[in-house]
Amino acid sequence: MSSTTPDSELKARHRKMWASGDYPSMVETFLLPLGPRLVGACGIGPGMSVLDVAAGTGNASIPAAQTGANVTASDLTPELLEAGRRRAESQGVDLTWVEADAEHLPFEDESYDVVMSSIGAMFAPHHQDVADEMVRVTRPGGTIGMLCWTPEGMIGALFKTMGPFAPPPPPGAQPPPLWGSEDHLAKLFGDRVDFRTLEREDLDITAFEHPRDYGEHFRTKYGPTIAAEGNARRNGQESEFEEAVNSFCEEWNRGTAEQARFEQEYLVAVGTRA
Ligand SMILES: C[S@@+](CC[C@H](N)C(=O)[O-])C[C@H]1O[C@@H](n2cnc3c(N)ncnc32)[C@H](O)[C@@H]1O
Repeated sequence: MSSTTPDSELKARHRKMWASGDYPSMVETFLLPLGPRLVGACGIGPGMSVLDVAAGTGNASIPAAQTGANVTASDLTPELLEAGRRRAESQGVDLTWVEADAEHLPFEDESYDVVMSSIGAMFAPHHQDVADEMVRVTRPGGTIGMLCWTPEGMIGALFKTMGPFAPPPPPGAQPPPLWGSEDHLAKLFGDRVDFRTLEREDLDITAFEHPRDYGEHFRTKYGPTIAAEGNARRNGQESEFEEAVNSFCEEWNRGTAEQARFEQEYLVAVGTRA
C-alpha cells in the first residue's frame, strides 16, 4: 500500500473515476455476455451464498440471483450500485447491495460458497490484498471465480496505449490486465486455490459502425479513459491522446471501415478454495 497517499484519498479518486462517464451504458452496449459467462463457469445455483466483488451494476450479480442464489453485490462506487439496484428492481430480482473496497472486504471469514468478480476486482490497485481478501471470505471447499481482461488482448493493449498519458499509478499498484495472466493468478493465490477452469476467450464486439466510434465510446463513457484524457489535456497532449486512441481502434479493428468488429480477450479462472 502507498506510504505517501492515504488509502482513503486514493480510493476516493478511484470512486470518482468510476462514477464519471457512463459505465452502465457500456454494460448495455457490449459487456452483457460476461456476467452470465462467469456465473455459469462458477456453477452458481439455488440456495448458494454468493459474493460479487466490484460488481458495478450487477452484470454478474443479477444473473447469479436469477438462479436462486443469495447474492451480495459489493463495489467501491455507490453510483454504480444504485444503477444496479434499479436494474435489478426493473427485472424483479432480489439481492443485497453493499459499498465495499475489494482490498478490505467488510465480510466475515469463510462466509460465502462462491466469491466471484467479472472485470471488477482486477481494477483495485493492490492485487495481493484483493486475492487475500477473496480467499478469506470464501468457505473452505468453496469456489473463487474471476473473469479478467488479458495483458495480451485488446484491453491490455488499451491500457498500454493510455499509460503514457495517464496520471502516474500510486506506489505499489500493479496494472489491471495482469489479472488475466495465468502465472499472475498462480502467484497471487498459490496453493490456496486449485484452478479447475483457466480458459481464454474473446468477447466479440459489433456494436460500433466505424472503428473510431469505439474510441469515442471509451473517451466519453469509460472512467479510466476519461482520466487519462483529462491528464493529457492538463499536459497539453490532448491531440496526441486522441490520435493514439484513433490509431489503436484502426489497429484492433477486425471488421471493415464501415462495420467495425473487435475481439476483446479475457481469461475465465475458476477454482476451489483449499
Ligand atoms: C469495469 S467495472 C466492472 C463492473 C462489473 N463487475 C461488470 O462486470 O460490469 C470495474 C468496477 O470495479 C470497481 N472498483 C474499482 N476499484 C475497486 C475497489 N478497490 N474495490 C471495489 N470495487 C472497485 C468499480 O467501481 C467498477 O464498478
